[in-house]
Amino acid sequence: MGGRRRGILCSGSASSPSAAAALILCCCVAVPLLVSVAEAEDPYRFFTWNVTYGDIWPLGVKQQGILINGMFPGPPIEAVTNDNLIINVHNSLAEPFLLSWNGIQQRRNSWQDGVLGTNCPIPPGRNFTYILQVKDQIGSYFYFPSLAFHKAAGGFGGLRILSRPRIPVPFPPPAADYTILAGDWFKANHTDLKALLDNGQDLPFPDGLVINGRGLGGTSFTVDQGKTYRFRISNVGLTQSFNIRFEGHTMKLVEVEGSHTLQSSYSNLDVHVGQSYSVLLTADQLPRDYHIVVSSRFTSPVIATTAVLRYSNGGAAGPPGPPPGGPTIQIDYSLNQARSIRWNLTASGPRPNPQGSYHYGLITPGRTIRLANSAPVINGKQRYAVNGVSFVPADTPLKVADFYNIPGVFTPGSIPDSPSGGGGYLKTSVMASNFRDFIEIIFENSEDTLQSWHIDGYSFFVVGMDGGQWSPASRAGYNLRDAVARSTVQVYPRSWSAIYVALDNVGMWNVRSENWARQYLGQQFYLRVYSPVNSWRDEYPIPKNALLCGRAAGRRTRPL
Ligand SMILES: *[C@@H]1O[C@H](CO)[C@@H](O)[C@H](O)[C@H]1NC(C)=O
Ligand SMILES: *[C@@H]1O[C@H](CO)[C@@H](O)[C@H](O)[C@H]1NC(C)=O
Ligand SMILES: *[C@@H]1O[C@H](CO)[C@@H](O)[C@H](O)[C@H]1NC(C)=O
Ligand SMILES: *[C@@H]1O[C@H](CO)[C@@H](O)[C@H](O)[C@H]1NC(C)=O
Repeated sequence: MGGRRRGILCSGSASSPSAAAALILCCCVAVPLLVSVAEAEDPYRFFTWNVTYGDIWPLGVKQQGILINGMFPGPPIEAVTNDNLIINVHNSLAEPFLLSWNGIQQRRNSWQDGVLGTNCPIPPGRNFTYILQVKDQIGSYFYFPSLAFHKAAGGFGGLRILSRPRIPVPFPPPAADYTILAGDWFKANHTDLKALLDNGQDLPFPDGLVINGRGLGGTSFTVDQGKTYRFRISNVGLTQSFNIRFEGHTMKLVEVEGSHTLQSSYSNLDVHVGQSYSVLLTADQLPRDYHIVVSSRFTSPVIATTAVLRYSNGGAAGPPGPPPGGPTIQIDYSLNQARSIRWNLTASGPRPNPQGSYHYGLITPGRTIRLANSAPVINGKQRYAVNGVSFVPADTPLKVADFYNIPGVFTPGSIPDSPSGGGGYLKTSVMASNFRDFIEIIFENSEDTLQSWHIDGYSFFVVGMDGGQWSPASRAGYNLRDAVARSTVQVYPRSWSAIYVALDNVGMWNVRSENWARQYLGQQFYLRVYSPVNSWRDEYPIPKNALLCGRAAGRRTRPL
C-alpha cells in the first residue's frame, strides 16, 4: 500500500533542485513497505484546466460565468478507485481562485483539499497542480470553487469514481451513466451576492433552478426503450434543497456518496445542498419524451425547472403534458425517506474506514460533540455560527501555519464541544481531536430552516435523525446496523441528526454548512485531527509545489 504511494510523493522530484533530498526521504519511507512494491502502481490521470470568465445563459439572461476549459458545468472527472489525479489548474480570472473536491477524502493529504484553511489561493495568472488519490473510494461526487462566492457563477463539475475492474458492483452495468448537477440559481452575479453578504444582508430568494447549467427543458438525456440507466444526481446549488422526479418512472436508489444502498424504489427523491445520489432508471414506458423535474423543497413559493428524458424511438416531440408536481413542505415525508436509505451490507466495494468501523455499531464513541447552528447579529451584521462561534478565515491557511509552527494564526480548542448559549462572536475556530478517536457528533438545529452539514476528509455513519431536542435517551433509536456512510447530512428544522466518525485521517478538515451563505458568513470551522507521531504513514508532508502566502510567504516546502 505505502509502496505504491511512492509514485505520488516522488513523481515530481526529478525536476526539483532538492531532488536528491526528496528521493532520499522517499526511499526511507518505502523501505519498510517493500513487500507491496511489486504491485503495479496505481494509474495516473492528467488534467490541464484553464479557469476563465465567459458568457452563460442559465435562466435565459446573459451572465458572466466561471468556465473551465470553456465549459459550464466544468469538465467531468471519471476515475477508478485508487487512481491518482493530477489536475493542473490555471487561474485566468482577475481574482484568487481555488477548487475543492466535495466528498473526496484526500487520505493523509488535506494539503489538496482546496479550501482556505488548507491552501493558499491560486493568484490571478498563476497555476497550481492538485495531486489527489481517490484512495479506497467509489461513488458520485462533485468539485466546486471554494473561495469568495464563486460557486454562484459555476466552476463546478461532476466527479465519479468507478469500482476497480474485478470488484463486483451490486447491479448490472447500466446502458449509460449520466450526471445531473442541479441547484438553485441567482440572476445577480457572484460579486453582487457577496457584497450583500459582506454588508450584513441575507441573500434574496433564488430566481430559479438549473440542471447542468440550463433552465426549462434545456437539457435532455436519451434512453433506449427497455434499457437501464444510471443517473448521478448532485445538489450543487447555494441554498435550497430540491426534490427530483422522472415523470412516469421510478428511481431505484443504488449509491449515496460512496455507499451502495439497499436498492429501494422511489417516485421522487430529496437532495439537500451538497449531497449526491445514484439511481437506476429503466426506460420501461411508452416511447416519447418525459419531464425530469427538479423543484425547491420546503419553500413557498416553489421554484422548479425541467430536463427531458427522451426515448430514442419516441419522436422527440417534447413531453405532452405539464410536469408532475411533487412534495413541497412536508417534512415528515422527507425524514421518513431519509431513514429508509440504508447500506447494503452484502454489497462489495471499498469500505470507509477499513480499520474496523465497518462494525461501527459495536464501537462506543469516546467523545460526543454537539454542534448547534445559530444566526447571530454581530457588530450589526447578519452572521451564522456554530456553538456561538462565527468563523473568520486567517491570513495564512491553518494547515500551512500548523506545518511551519507559525504562532498566532489559530488556537486548537477555540470552539466549544457543546452549544454555549448566549450570542455569537467571531473567531478562527479550530477544534482539536486525536488521530484514531471514534466520535459521535450531534448536529442540533433549533432554527426553522433546513441545515446541510459536510465534513471534508471523511465519510461518516448517519446513525439517527429526529425532530425536537436530542438527549442521551435519543441514542436508543440509533441505527447501529446498516446506516449509510456519507459526507453530507441534512438536519431538519427544529431537529437533530447524529453521526459516528472514525477519525482515521490526519489533517486539517473543514466542517461546514453546505448552505453557501451560511458557510460564507461563518457557519463552519476546522477539525484538526492530530497525530503526535509525525510520520508519512499518517500524513504527507507539505507538497513540493504548495503555494505559500500570508505569514508563510517566502518559506520553503523542502529543506535546501
Ligand atoms: C486560458 O484562456 C484564456 C482565454 O481564452 C487565454 O487567454 C489563456 O492563454 C489561457 N491560458 C492557458 C494557460 O491556457
Ligand atoms: C504550472 O503549469 C506548468 C505547465 O503548464 C507546470 O509545469 C507547473 O508545474 C505548474 N505549476 C504548479 C505550481 O503546479
Ligand atoms: C445487496 O447487494 C447484493 C450483492 O451485490 C445484491 O445481490 C442484493 O440484491 C442487494 N440487496 C438489496 C436489497 O439491494
Ligand atoms: C457583477 O455585476 C455588477 C453590476 O451589477 C458589475 O459591476 C460587476 O462587474 C459584475 N461582476 C462580474 C464578476 O461579472
